[in-house]
Amino acid sequence: MTSRRRISFTLNGELQEGEALPRMLLVDFLRDVLGKTGTHVGCEHGVCGACTVIVDGMATRSCLMFAVQAEGAEILTVEGLAEGETLHPLQKLFSEYRALQCGFCTPGMIMTAIDLVENNQSLTGDDIKIGMSAALCRCTGYEGIIKAVTSYAELVYEKTITGKAHDG
Ligand code: FES
Ligand code: FES
Repeated sequence: MTSRRRISFTLNGELQEGEALPRMLLVDFLRDVLGKTGTHVGCEHGVCGACTVIVDGMATRSCLMFAVQAEGAEILTVEGLAEGETLHPLQKLFSEYRALQCGFCTPGMIMTAIDLVENNQSLTGDDIKIGMSAALCRCTGYEGIIKAVTSYAELVYEKTITGKAHDG
């Protein structure tokens, strides 16, 4: 019989511990063991991006990682972005630009965008479109998402993004 292993890692700034079978996926550990359901799970094959979280500073598909591989890691999920009642600036921009409808893709979209913007020094409009193609949305047509991420990049880099697909 395969035995469970004890895992601990930092999640949104707090130490979390739990037990998982060696084959349990990180997304299932987050949702089913820790009860953190902000991270969604869609395709379970690394295609849709719904399960994207930030692991040690890099966007990671939590359906492609075993929970035991997260031992000692620092993980950021969508639940770690808001400060109390105050939304993260990117969450506000998603709302402002109506970048979500059903919301299923939104946690993964937001974590993908944070990695894209914060792990680059600057981005063009095309870079943003290509970078955000890592996450799929079946509702919005992407226009609002690209506008929100572009505005967030302009906020972070304190400059206008060149080659963007919209003016407002
Ligand atoms: Fe992980 Fe789709 S659920 S990429
Ligand atoms: Fe529904 Fe993106 S808002 S899948």
